[in-house]
Amino acid sequence: MKIVTCIAPVNIAVIKYWGKRDDELILPINDSISSTLDAKSGANMCAKTTIMASPNFKDNKLWLNGKEENFDAVRLQNCLKEIKKRINPIGNKEDIINWNIHICSENNFPTAAGLASSAAGYACLVFALAKLYNIEGDISGLARRGSGSACRSIYGGWVKWCKGESLDGSDSLAVQLAPTSHWPDMRIIILVVNESRKKHSSTNAMKTSMSTSTLLATRAETIVPARINNMEIAIKTKDFAKFAELTMRDSNQFHAICLDTYPPCFYLNEVSHSIIEFVHAYNDFKKSTQVAYTYDAGPNACLYTLENNVSELISIINEVFPTSASREEYIKGIRVKTTELSQV
Ligand code: DP6
Repeated sequence: MKIVTCIAPVNIAVIKYWGKRDDELILPINDSISSTLDAKSGANMCAKTTIMASPNFKDNKLWLNGKEENFDAVRLQNCLKEIKKRINPIGNKEDIINWNIHICSENNFPTAAGLASSAAGYACLVFALAKLYNIEGDISGLARRGSGSACRSIYGGWVKWCKGESLDGSDSLAVQLAPTSHWPDMRIIILVVNESRKKHSSTNAMKTSMSTSTLLATRAETIVPARINNMEIAIKTKDFAKFAELTMRDSNQFHAICLDTYPPCFYLNEVSHSIIEFVHAYNDFKKSTQVAYTYDAGPNACLYTLENNVSELISIINEVFPTSASREEYIKGIRVKTTELSQV
């Protein structure tokens, strides 16, 4: 019998992935950039996966957050198929390849609420499988087969998912642009506006955007390439004001594409809109850009800021957006850093 347990954190995109050129292989129409949260303590938003392989297991089984799920799900099967192709029989002395496996995966944050749960979940699954079968080399292309954004959670720090050009997806991989230590005072504050499951899954919504939004092609072809270059420079030179403006503009454009999708997808709600206004008001008051918002496929805000603003921002947010949850419940893992994916 062999057991592996891994944790993998979520990543927060600053240049968004939205739209696939190949649905089956999960190949995007544009590059994207994100940062990966700290997973070291397991206190921040991450997935934890345990995989057990045994010659005595009669079937393969999967539990997500304690509930048994279908092992035949297409994306899980695609990941497994690709993993099996990469297994080196010499590196696996036992007959482990033919044993059945039991997979248990848990998120310590709301699932499918637009908080990158599938990214952390599939990154963790693929990382654990790679450990189980002693797979070497880049595994971001394997994680991509589970969920596109998952490939970015394979690496820590600042990560770019290069869309790639080849039809088979062999060059559609994630690369680390810079480690966490490059920008040590960068912080992410996540404001959970609503933790219920999102109305439109990212997968379905981006498919509808591909077939109906006329803005999406322009974004992918002409806007994102320049933005990716500028974002790489902003990260490299630690230019927060430039980084923040690009982040906010890209989030706004992604949600404009969602509105341009027919029928439209509404991910942001009134509270999300007031957080956007609050961020702009705060930056105006400070007479310089100190904080940036970004939203994925849900109403929850991810704020990027630097360490010296965190206390003040949290106090103001508590004042402006009071919550019925206890302070401890509301503010988790206040020291959010970015770091490497780890095996526990
Ligand atoms: C809005 O990775 O969830 O979070 O590849 O179909 O599984 P699939 O989609 P998914 O899409 C995430 C989109 C996003 C933006 C981003 O993370 O870049």
